[in-house]
Amino acid sequence: MTPGKFITFEGGEGSGKSTQARLLAERLRGLGHDVVVTREPGGTPFAEQVRQLLLAPDTAPHGPVSEALMFYAARADHLEKVIRPALAAGRWVICDRFSDSTDVYQSHAGGLDRAMFDMLEHAIVAATRPSLTLVIDIDARLGQERATARRGSASRGSDSAAADAYERRDIVYHETLRRGFLAIAEAEPQRCLVIDGAKPIDNVAAAVWAGVSERFGADTGAAAPRTD
Ligand SMILES: Nc1ncnc2c1ncn2[C@@H]1O[C@H](COP(=O)(O)OP(=O)(O)OP(=O)(O)O)[C@@H](O)[C@H]1O
Ligand SMILES: [Mg+2]
Repeated sequence: MTPGKFITFEGGEGSGKSTQARLLAERLRGLGHDVVVTREPGGTPFAEQVRQLLLAPDTAPHGPVSEALMFYAARADHLEKVIRPALAAGRWVICDRFSDSTDVYQSHAGGLDRAMFDMLEHAIVAATRPSLTLVIDIDARLGQERATARRGSASRGSDSAAADAYERRDIVYHETLRRGFLAIAEAEPQRCLVIDGAKPIDNVAAAVWAGVSERFGADTGAAAPRTD
C-alpha cells in the first residue's frame, strides 16, 4: 500500500492553522481521499490529558526541559496510536501543530538546549517527519486580536473561552515565536512553505492548496499544477 501523506500546520496563535487544516481536509475529502485531522498537543486520550495540563494557566511552574518532555510524551502516544497507523494505511494525516512548535516554543523562545530538542526529536519522531509543513505567518498583534475575538465568540465553558498559558504572554514573546517559525522555514525550504496568513480565509486556503498540489502533484487527484 502507498504510504499516506503527512502534512503539518505551524505558526503563531490566531494565524489560522485550525481553520486551514479543516479546509484542506474538506478539499482532499472532496477528491475522495481518506483524511485524518488531528492536533498537538493532543490527538489521543492521553495526549489530550497532557494538553490540559500543559495549557492550564494554573499549572505549577516548570522549566523548558520538563515541558519538552511532556510534549514528547504526548507526541509518542500520538505517533504510535494515530499518526503512524494512519500513514501505514495510506491515509492523509493533517496535524495542527507538531514538532516545529516544540522547537519554537521550548527551544527558540523557551531556552531548551538545542541538543536536547534534537535528541528527543530523533528518538521519538525519528523518520515520521512531515512531507510538507505549511507555516501560516501573521503579524503577532493581528494573531492576538484574532485569538481574543475568537474567545469572545466562544461559548461559555468551552476550552477556547479563556486565554491559555501561552496566549497570556506578551507581544514581544509572540514576535519571538514568529521569528522562530520563519527561521525553521528558511532552514528547511524543501519541507516548509510560508503562507501569508493576513489575507482573507479563502485566499489563504488557495495558497495552501497551491502548495499541497505542487508538493504532491498527481497524488492529490487534482489537475497537475505544471504542464511542462
Ligand atoms: N485569514 C483569516 N482572516 C480573518 N480571520 C481569520 C482568518 N483565519 C482564521 N480567522 C479567524 O481567526 C480566529 C483564529 O483562527 P484559528 O483558530 O484557525 O487560528 P489558529 O492558528 O488555529 O489559532 P491557535 O494557535 O490559537 O489554535 C478564528 O476565529 C478564525 O475564524
Ligand atoms: Mg488552533
